[in-house]
Amino acid sequence: MKTVLFSIVLTIGLLSHTNAVAGDVKAGKAKSATCAGCHGANGIGIMGNYPNLAGQKADYIAKQLKAFKEGTRADAVMPAMVAALSEQDMADLGAYFASFSIDGTPPPPPVAGEDSSTVAAPMTAPTPAKPAYVADAAAGKGLYQSGDKARGITACIDCHGKDGNSTVLINPNLAKQHSQYIEKQLTAFKENTRDNAVMNQISANLSSNDIANLGAYFADTSAVGEVKSAPVVVVKSFTGDVEIGKTKAATCAACHGADGNAAVAMYPSLAGQSEDYLVKQLTEFKSSTRVDPVMAGMVAALSADDIQNVSAYFASQTLNPKVVEANAKGKKLYISGDMKNGITACVACHSIDGSGMAKAGFPAIAGQNATYLKVQLEKFRSGARANDKNSMMRNIAMKLSTKDIDAVAQYMSSLK
Ligand code: HEC
Ligand code: HEC
Ligand code: HEC
Ligand code: HEC
Repeated sequence: MKTVLFSIVLTIGLLSHTNAVAGDVKAGKAKSATCAGCHGANGIGIMGNYPNLAGQKADYIAKQLKAFKEGTRADAVMPAMVAALSEQDMADLGAYFASFSIDGTPPPPPVAGEDSSTVAAPMTAPTPAKPAYVADAAAGKGLYQSGDKARGITACIDCHGKDGNSTVLINPNLAKQHSQYIEKQLTAFKENTRDNAVMNQISANLSSNDIANLGAYFADTSAVGEVKSAPVVVVKSFTGDVEIGKTKAATCAACHGADGNAAVAMYPSLAGQSEDYLVKQLTEFKSSTRVDPVMAGMVAALSADDIQNVSAYFASQTLNPKVVEANAKGKKLYISGDMKNGITACVACHSIDGSGMAKAGFPAIAGQNATYLKVQLEKFRSGARANDKNSMMRNIAMKLSTKDIDAVAQYMSSLK
């Protein structure tokens, strides 16, 4: 029975490889800026739980994006990323990421003038609790190539190809994928939290040790290898002129501090915030896309160049966060979200240490004044602040209680 089902699915897999629309690499590149924040500018995911997309099958990528959009594949982050994408956009993004090679070529050196401090800033993933079991890469390889008939486990090689290089367009490559991500997906298929008839059936008989062994096989750099994001040397450079910006920033000092460290809790600190984010906010105060009577008056006389320069100045400053106590409730919400109430974990976008992801437009919130953070979350919740792309923050804040907001604002403020 199992073998019959298996061959049917295998055949369907082989046949259904064509996408409705053809993708365009150049168009995909233009749409990929947000994705780079997590999947890397060269398609190498910046952390173990952000999958590599480099060299992945274009059709497979497009299919997954559609699944995230339609809600058939669940995830804390990806649905917000794809909400506004058309079928053509998905095909273009698929073509773009498929065009990279997964051979570990380091990302190109930062372009002069670009704020390279934000290019894949090295981050530490939360260390998963290590099980006592010591994973065995050779056992993983054996299972991958031959399966285990006695235990009803099909060989992976038939669908995912020799060493994880799939020849079937709809079957993903696994070669050089992050092993942490592979283990997470196998567990999700096993627990049916990721839905795919084939993989649900195949992973049902995998034990947690099997999954660890398969992970170890894919982590073995002497064989199929895992390509990790290359550590990027942090070179601070700015588009605007820091020195000119400093002279323009004199009028801001009363509230935001001369060096961007705001002394009064209702005003945000600006020191070390991403230049792009600051430019976006100032431009939007000016156009009243973000409404604040005080700031509207402050930016009215600033030209686009002034905005760029003043942003560069504050971005170049160092944040000196006050000592704020962390709290367990806020930490839990920040790191894990609240599945029951549909609240996405903040960590997915604002990063584990609160430094944000400048490339993707996610601001730093670490060490920010708690009162300011609280007010912003209330404004997103009521819709008084509505300058977040695709309602990313409003959709989350809508579900936060006032107690949640108090706790998470204090926790973010305690991050360094
Ligand atoms: C804030 C981080 C973040 C951003 C930004 C982001 N992603 Fe993702 N993406 C993830 C995570 C996390 C997963 C893994 C989900 C899971 O574990 O099932 C993922 C999974 C995927 C997958 C499935 C890969 C696979 O092997 O199955 C694709 C395709 C993808 N993302 C494409 C994109 C594209 C295209 C964009 C930009 C429009 C984007 N992502 C933006 C975090 C992000
Ligand atoms: C009959 C074909 C088939 C076999 C055999 C098979 N897979 Fe898969 N696998 C698939 C397909 C199809 C998908 C894509 C599912 C989707 O579209 O969401 C997939 C997805 C995956 C993913 C997620 C990849 C990603 O980028 O998100 C992993 C990991 C995986 N398989 C591992 C395995 C392992 C390990 C085995 C062997 C124990 C195996 N597969 C056997 C067809 C197969
Ligand atoms: C009189 C006090 C005051 C002065 C002076 C002032 N600001 Fe502000 N600024 C505020 C307040 C209040 C907010 C929060 C607005 C809100 O609630 O949306 C803010 C917000 C901002 C933000 C958004 C920060 C974020 O994290 O989103 C930026 C950027 C900013 N100000 C830059 C400037 C610059 C540049 C100047 C000088 C040209 C300046 N401000 C002068 C009071 C001031
Ligand atoms: C899907 C990505 C995403 C997630 C998840 C997310 N945020 Fe945000 N957040 C953003 C973006 C984008 C902005 C900036 C919007 C803009 O351009 O003005 C932002 C802005 C903010 C700000 C305002 C910062 C400032 O300087 O004004 C706060 C506070 C905030 N987020 C808190 C949270 C909290 C708390 C959570 C979790 C409960 C969370 N965010 C989850 C994307 C996200």
